[in-house]
This record gives sequence, structure tokens and C-alpha cells, in this order.
Amino acid sequence: MVVPESQEKMYYPPVELQRNAHVPDFNSYLVMYKKSLENPEAFWREVADEFFWKKPATGPMLQHNFDMTKGNIFVNCMEGAKTNMCYNVLDRHVKEGKLGEKVAYYWEGNSPDHHMTITYRQLLSHVCRCANVLKQMGVKRGDRVSIYLPMIPELIVTMLACARIGAVHSIVFAGFSSESLCERIMDAQSSVLVTAGKLLQHQTYAICLDVTCCCTRRSSGVTTCLVIKHQAQRTRTGTSCNKLQTPWESERDVWWDEVMRDSPDECEPEWMDAEDPLFILYTSGSTGKPKGVVHTVAGYLLYTSLTFRYVFDHHPDDVYWCTADIGWITGHSYITYGPLANGATSVLFEGLPVHPHVGRFWEIIEKYKVTKFYTAPTAIRLLMKYGQEPLRKYDLSSLRILGTVGEPINPEAWRWYHEVVGQGRCPVVDTFWQTETGGHVLTPLPAATPLKPGSATFPFFGVEPAILNEHGEELEGVTEGYLVFRKPWPGIMRTIYKNQELFENTYFRKFPGFYVTGDGCRRDKDGYYWITGRIDDMLNVSGHLMSTAEVEAALMLHQSVSEAAVVSRPHKVKGECLYCFVTLKDSKEFNCKLVEDLKRLVREKIGPIATPDFIQNAPALPKTRSGKIMRRILRQIARNEKDLGDLSTLADPKVVEVLFNQRSEAA
Ligand code: WTA
Repeated sequence: MVVPESQEKMYYPPVELQRNAHVPDFNSYLVMYKKSLENPEAFWREVADEFFWKKPATGPMLQHNFDMTKGNIFVNCMEGAKTNMCYNVLDRHVKEGKLGEKVAYYWEGNSPDHHMTITYRQLLSHVCRCANVLKQMGVKRGDRVSIYLPMIPELIVTMLACARIGAVHSIVFAGFSSESLCERIMDAQSSVLVTAGKLLQHQTYAICLDVTCCCTRRSSGVTTCLVIKHQAQRTRTGTSCNKLQTPWESERDVWWDEVMRDSPDECEPEWMDAEDPLFILYTSGSTGKPKGVVHTVAGYLLYTSLTFRYVFDHHPDDVYWCTADIGWITGHSYITYGPLANGATSVLFEGLPVHPHVGRFWEIIEKYKVTKFYTAPTAIRLLMKYGQEPLRKYDLSSLRILGTVGEPINPEAWRWYHEVVGQGRCPVVDTFWQTETGGHVLTPLPAATPLKPGSATFPFFGVEPAILNEHGEELEGVTEGYLVFRKPWPGIMRTIYKNQELFENTYFRKFPGFYVTGDGCRRDKDGYYWITGRIDDMLNVSGHLMSTAEVEAALMLHQSVSEAAVVSRPHKVKGECLYCFVTLKDSKEFNCKLVEDLKRLVREKIGPIATPDFIQNAPALPKTRSGKIMRRILRQIARNEKDLGDLSTLADPKVVEVLFNQRSEAA
């Protein structure tokens, strides 16, 4: 790795930030990075030392095998150690750290009239009550609990209550459809579902979004449904839930308020093994079926805690705000666990960036004097559309560091974020990572790394990236290829729930000895890494990863559709959007009604985030002679790129012309 000497415009860390920073300059980063790779044992042991261990580790800090030809893939962190996540992120601060009265969260509801402050002591008390409620319901160590909630404090309370009693939480983003929820409940075999709803009339309640089919369907296996009364009925995706009514079943349904009231606020934590699962979080798989990514207690604690501290250069008087939803990994790692492990004060926001007005984000930053702000490129692009005016009304001088996550950020959005939001004063940390990596893996450190807009810059401590070509050969210097990692770090996923084989095939089969991210990557002459996007059949819409296969499967459920192929097309705000080709069955007619029906179908099956932007009639799809759909060509048709290159492998090249001619109707 070289100290950057580029001619292009670099953004250097502000001196005021460097004065008091954990990693104050690039050289310190290099020294620490070297230590983390040369002596990971000492590096991670030092990180572990600040946490509470009921029993110390008997094994090394990290053991692993990444080579399928040598046996099963595994990662093991701190074998023999016993601890509890919840104890470390709450009790430790309240009992040992005297942070009981410190604010853990400023909750800001969707409506500006709804807000609340929660201290560490209050949070601990709520969590213990909830832990006792879950125990009362028969939830035991290792059992899975599904959680389907908007961004309300009860979501954090429930996840920590699970962690406290050793139950494995499986949070499903509240913007997913009931079918998606049901699929995830069944895969995780959860018997308890925690959700939100309001009483409509005697014996009927509306559940937040529609879990009607899920709860009533026996096969989902849910025997207890813990329901939080929630008046504000909107979620981030804007879906309103009062249209769906569920009969109250007293055998199954319990009001949160009623059981919490009588529940004792002390609960001994369950002492877990370092490698016990902490949670399952589903992420899209390229086959279309979501994969239950499993993270474990000790490694995830060490990694989310350390990345949070260094990447946001956390200090005790910070007010930190991550706008992600807890239904995604960003919320798990950088709203709940990372910040709480550091005793941080965070803003927890239920609403949308532009509701009730387009200055909502800036209003909240001013209100709470937010110092560190973490959002997604799609939100930045959305807010850019409204210009600088909405920002001018608010005082944003508290901001020190800005972050982005979820997709590559285009330099134009980066500069707007830096200049307009950060007033040229705040470094932008472009953090690259995945549900699977548990925490940041390529990222700048705000006081250390000179920035280039659009680059996630360098690896975090303990992370060793490499770029490979199609044959698995490692490429040196300036290059582009597959982004892989040579070694684990404590927070990397351990397996796919109930499917070790899929885990090994997905991430380790292609290049033995490496974890394969599925992303393309370029390294420039200064050693900076630039993510170029997914190289598998995955799409990134507004920072939400989804597979083409799952959208195709939803389209094909329609009785008129015989075949479907989905590709991405660039979108100004969402980054990418869905462009769908559908081949209809004989005698079926392509018309506006069908297009609307298909959009609705996808929304119902997957959720509003997967709603297609374009649906085009495709009398036939371009295929190879072996029958494989050539997505490269479909992508070019979707983008109206006429220069198609070599079409010789196509079974019937005429198909392409037809699709181009019909294009105008679609767009
Ligand atoms: C993409 C989200 C470029 C990438 C934390 C990755 C990014 C996928 C960045 C994971 C970034 C995430 N620059 N691309 N800073 N961050 N990605 O699992 O394609 O929802 O593989 O985790 O998002 O999405 P996931």
C-alpha cells in the first residue's frame, strides 16, 4: 500500500479533527493496520479486554479455514469464552461505567410531535422486562424470535431482550410483504413473532403491514404473537397498515403493554458461548431464495464495536445518527450493537427523509446537534433534488463526520454531501461492507485517510483484500477484478442458517482460500479500492440488495406470463431500478392493466422496494444455444445501448431487433 500521491483532487482530514482522533493520521493507520495483520492475536485480544467475559477464552482469538479443498469452511473466535452481548452493551455501562443517566437514544417519530428520550438505565430496565416476558412465553436459549416492527424503541428493546436470554433474533424489514415475512419465519422456525398493530374494534386488530396470512397460516408455526400498540401507522416505505385486519386470537396474541407492565425488571443474562448465534438476518440469494446469514456473539461484538469507534471516530459527547432501518444489517451493526457497545448517544428515527417536509433530516440534525451522520447514497441523491434551500434554514454546524453505505456513491452526490451538507468541513466515510461481513471492511478513517470521492479507500484493521481475475489469479498493482478477502475478521458471518453447504458454495467455491464478496473492484495507482458493483445476478435498488431471480419468480406467478427476465437500469435517485422483460403465454395481451397487475404482484410478493419501474413485452428473450438468457444483452436494451458487440452465441439474433423496436413503449 502506498501513501497517496495522486494528482486528482484529494480531500485531506481537517486538522481540528486530527487533534483528538483515535487514529490521527495516515501513518498511524498504516502502523495499526500492519500490526492487525502481523499479530491478529495481540490486536484482537486488546480489543476484547475492555469487555466482560464470564469465562476467558481457552482458544486463540481467531481460527479459520477458507479453503474448501482442505475441509469444512469455519471461523472461530475466542473458543471457550463465555459472555453476554446485552450485558456488554447495557449492564457494563450502567453498572461499571456509570453511564446510567446517559441518553442511549433520542427517538424521533414519523410525526415531529412524537419523540422520546431513553437513557441507558431505562433501556436496561425495559430490556429485562421484555426478556422476562419472552421467557414467560417459553422462549429459551437458542430459540428463534421473529421481529417485524417499524423503527420504534421497542424494536431495540426486543432485540436486546433476545440477546439477553440467548434467543436468536430474526428481524424482518417492515417494508417486506407478509409473504416474505412468512417465508423467513418458516425458515427460521420461530414460534414467537413480535409486531405492531392497533385495536380497531372488538376482537379485531390491524397489524403493522399485513401479516394476516402469516399469522393465521398454521404452517408459519407462530404460536405467540406479541403485539405493540402503535398509533403512527406509517413505515419507511410509506405502507399504511390500517387496511389489514386480523381477528384477535387470545390463544396466540398478547398485547405488549399488558405483559410488560407486570414483568419484573431484573433478569440474569444467559452466559453464552463466544460462538453461539446472536442473530439471523436474511439477505437476497442469487437463486431467489433468501439466505439466513448467521452472526455470533463474541466476534460480532468486537468487530461492530471497533469499527464504530474508529470509522466514526467516536467520542463520549457525540450525538450520532444512522438513518438506516434496523431491518437491515446497517441498523443491526450501527444503530444497535456498535453504538451501544461504545456507550454512544444515538438518534433513532422512525420517519422518512421528506416527510412532513423536505428539510426533515436537517431539522433533526439541528434539533439534537448531531455530530456524526450516516446515510445512504440514495437518500443523498433524493435530497439533492431539492437544492440547497431546505438546508439553509437549519444550523448544521454541529456536524463533524458524514458517512455513506449501501451502494457506490457517484462523485457528484459525494461532493454535494461534502460541500453542502458538511459545509466542506466534514470528511465523508464511504463504508463498503455487506450483511455477510457484519461490519465495515473497506473504509476511510476520518482523521487519517485522504479521500477520493467514490472510493471506499482502504481496508479496515484485520481485513486483507485481494483482487482476482476469472481464473483465480491474484492481480497486483493497478487492476480490476473480483473483490475477495484472504482471511476472516471477528465479525464475518459463520454460516447460512441450516445450510452450511449453500454457505460454502456461495462464498468459497469459486476461489478456494478466499471469501468471495460478489462485487467487482478496481485498485488505482495510489492503492485506493473502488467498488464497481455486483458481478452476480444481484441488483441494488436504493441500497437494497435483491436478486433478479426473486423478482422473476414473482412475475412468473401471473397466469399470463410464461417467462420473465429482470435486469437493472441506472436510476437518478435509486442508483439502479428494475427493468423487466416478460414473455406472455399464447393469446395473452400485453396492456396497461397487465403492467399494473404485474407491478402489484411483485409488491405483494416481495415488498414495495421491489416494484418494477419498467415492464416490457418480450415476444422472445435472447438466449444462447444452450438456452441461457443473455442478460448482458437485456441490460443493453434496457439502457438503449445500441452497440451490442458479439451476438454470435445467440440462438436467434433477430430477437434483439424486435426487443429494441418495442422498447419505446416500455419507457
Ligand atoms: C453494496 C449493506 C459500494 C455492495 C451494508 C455490497 C456498496 C452490497 C457499499 C451489500 C459501498 C454496500 N460502496 N457498494 N460503500 N456498501 N455496497 O448486504 O454491492 O445489504 O455487496 O449490506 O451493497 O449489501 P447489504
